[in-house]
Amino acid sequence: WSQSVHKGADASRRIHIHIDREVMGAVLVTGGAGYIGSHVTKALLGAGRDVVVLDSLVVGHREAVCGEPLVEADIADTETVRQTIRKFGVTSVMHLAAFLSVGESVLYPERYYLNNVTKTIALIKALVSESVECLIFSSTAAVYGESEGIPIAEDHLTRPSNAYGETKLAIERALPHYETAYGLRSICLRYFNAAGADEDGEIGEDHDPEEHLIPRALAAASGGVPLVVFGEDYETEDGTCRRDYVHVSDLAAAHILALAALEEGKPSAIYNLANGHSFSVREVITAVERVTGTRVPHEYGPRRSGDPAVLSASSKRARAELGWNPVYRDLDAIVKSAWHWHRSHPKGYGE
Ligand code: UFG
Repeated sequence: WSQSVHKGADASRRIHIHIDREVMGAVLVTGGAGYIGSHVTKALLGAGRDVVVLDSLVVGHREAVCGEPLVEADIADTETVRQTIRKFGVTSVMHLAAFLSVGESVLYPERYYLNNVTKTIALIKALVSESVECLIFSSTAAVYGESEGIPIAEDHLTRPSNAYGETKLAIERALPHYETAYGLRSICLRYFNAAGADEDGEIGEDHDPEEHLIPRALAAASGGVPLVVFGEDYETEDGTCRRDYVHVSDLAAAHILALAALEEGKPSAIYNLANGHSFSVREVITAVERVTGTRVPHEYGPRRSGDPAVLSASSKRARAELGWNPVYRDLDAIVKSAWHWHRSHPKGYGE
């Protein structure tokens, strides 16, 4: 496998990953109708893989599934998962279906333990019973909590600040036991802040409610609700939280490379996926103003519980071992692609 990057004008930047060898069966993508899942699915199709999406559509969007088979089911619907694996000849799984709101997880931890842990264990049980051997697991920077020094490497202490991070960590910690007992090999990808949208403009970010900073700032710039900055008293240069934004298409590319590694027989692993630079909320607002040419109306509010002050990571391991080479290195390019999606889909998939 190889990852080659074609750079030109921003709008024509593309990530091409092609397969140099005969590959295995189909790939099942859970959560393939979601934000990251739809970009992963698109990248898999671009890599020539057969793909089947399994999504309950509770938070995903039918419109985000661009032609590949969609099985509308819950990940804990073991019988449907097993039938899907048999029917489509699935040999590898990418598991992205999850609840992902940090704030909600603090208020309603049970929802998160049920959906992200209990149901994932049911899914894994189905995979094991169908002899699936390769699993890519969608994990998160939230497993680290408050970090002791930046950039965070994979061996940094894991001490989540919220239930969301705890639930992802619980699965990360379960997976080695499933490997020992049943031979299921896995790669956990710890995403930092996914942002942006595919350059083709077909798929993008559409959460309900939308809680993420960049889409909210874009909506505010377009005349929507003014942005509330959650806290200005953090121990950072400007008092606002800092995050490491990584383009969703770069994340998708990492999934393809991770799957190739597993399918080639490489061992289970954990990788950070980040750009290595953090930006404060104020810096993001300024970037959105630069890209849109419009002021972002905003005010300052209290901290949001569960938010660590700074998250930024080293992705040296993913670069060295997977050959991952993110294309989108600067914040403006990421915001620009999100703006492109926002302008063409101001109401998300609803329009
Ligand atoms: N923020 C605001 N106002 C808003 C929304 C966000 O100030 O209206 C701030 C947040 O407090 C945070 C930063 O902007 O400091 C980014 O917030 P997001 O909600 O966009 O993203 P999070 O950092 O909370 O969470 C994201 C993913 C999680 C993942 C985490 C890891 O949603 O799944 O990144 O960094 F765990």
